[in-house]
Amino acid sequence: MDRIVIRGGNRLTGRLPISGAKNAALTLMPCALLTEEPVTLRNLPRLADVDSFGHLLNQLGASTEIEGARPTDFGRVMTIRAGRLTSTEAPYDIVRKMRASILVLGPLVGRAGEAKVSLPGGCAIGNRPIDLHLRALEAMGADIELAAGYVRASAPGGRLPGGRVTFSIVSVGATENAVMAAVTARGGTIIENAAREPEIVDLCNLLLAMGASISGVGTGTLEIEGRDRLHGATYRVMPDRIEAGSYACAAAITGGSVDLVGIKADDMRATIAGLADAGVTVIEKGDVLTIAADGPLRPLTLSTAPFPGFATDMQAQIMAMLCRAAGSSVLTETIFENRYMHVPELARMGADIQVRGRTALVRGVDRLVGAPVMATDLRASMSLIIAGLVAEGETQVSRVYHLDRGYERLEEKLQAVGADIERVGDG
Ligand code: EPZ
Repeated sequence: MDRIVIRGGNRLTGRLPISGAKNAALTLMPCALLTEEPVTLRNLPRLADVDSFGHLLNQLGASTEIEGARPTDFGRVMTIRAGRLTSTEAPYDIVRKMRASILVLGPLVGRAGEAKVSLPGGCAIGNRPIDLHLRALEAMGADIELAAGYVRASAPGGRLPGGRVTFSIVSVGATENAVMAAVTARGGTIIENAAREPEIVDLCNLLLAMGASISGVGTGTLEIEGRDRLHGATYRVMPDRIEAGSYACAAAITGGSVDLVGIKADDMRATIAGLADAGVTVIEKGDVLTIAADGPLRPLTLSTAPFPGFATDMQAQIMAMLCRAAGSSVLTETIFENRYMHVPELARMGADIQVRGRTALVRGVDRLVGAPVMATDLRASMSLIIAGLVAEGETQVSRVYHLDRGYERLEEKLQAVGADIERVGDG
């Protein structure tokens, strides 16, 4: 397995391109199942999860063609053709590797009137149930049965009537599945307490381009009129707000000055506010965000929350940055029950962090020291990279396959702004 080796101490300076958003790509790709016509996605990030999702679509009978991807390009163009589905089953061996596979459930019911999807199981950050996904489909008229580790959903008469979906808690994935099932239902669907993440807006914008009828985009109440058919479209994936926030924390912890190129500032207001409160200079110029930190970092008190609150996917990364703040920060993780797996690894590098339930007290320290550390999940692995960039000596991050799921060509992007970082294969 590959490792990433970092020798800390370099200030990051220069321009860093931001890729297409992983969590948008993973809900845009299954939309292609909703039409017999080709769907072309531009600015698709080169990530392991995107490749896995492509294999899942192939398993269902869709073709996925990558166009014009030179090795030096960031992002790719993929055309997905689902003219004829040969299966409506997402098997365990694919779903267990990537829980976002559950996002074929809604589109398969919407296209074929049925789906059989392996239950995704939990992951490092929590047990990640899918009850809200299933209840949403039931509220739209689907029959749901659970057996032998699979969920089977079917629409009476082959097409969902539609209905009123009211989410008890905000769920990004459940909202995505509900929207993708509703756009081809026989009647109308109202979704209340819908997630408002920018990735949901991206999903709705693609579906609108495919001929869907959705109102309330970007709000917590979506009204959808089912269409008999949707047509193909070409759509550009939104920039990755979490990748951008991650590299902002990397620039800040090194006392550097980095231009993040190709961002959408409105998607990351809470992150920008957090960085500014920590004393980081953040300058917006169109799709470029300049991050400069030439003074001490100030401690923060932050809670994660659904959009537009502070993103849970940014918690580990800003915690790493705050390990070097002049004072104590208090972070509260309100979305997932076990999203502090990075804490013991950061502690191995000299961080002073105490976790009590959902709250972490991060006491800033004068120095972090490089050490061999282990990635446990995607965002935890990025927090270790961020700490390694400022730690004295060498940090070796193992199990970097976690990183490859969500950060396109990370070491190249960081090398280009001055980091002493390389990927070492174990042969
Ligand atoms: C999406 O996961 C993202 N993944 C996650 O990003 C992100 O952390 C999360 O949304 C929250 O923003 C993708 O988009 C592929 P949820 P999702 O349903 O949809 C509970 C990353 O690092 N819940 O909004 O699975 C759940 O346990 C990943 O890029 C239920 O109880 O998240 C959690 O506590 C990690 N029942 C809360 O809701 C359900 O049926 C929010 O989860 C569904 C969720």
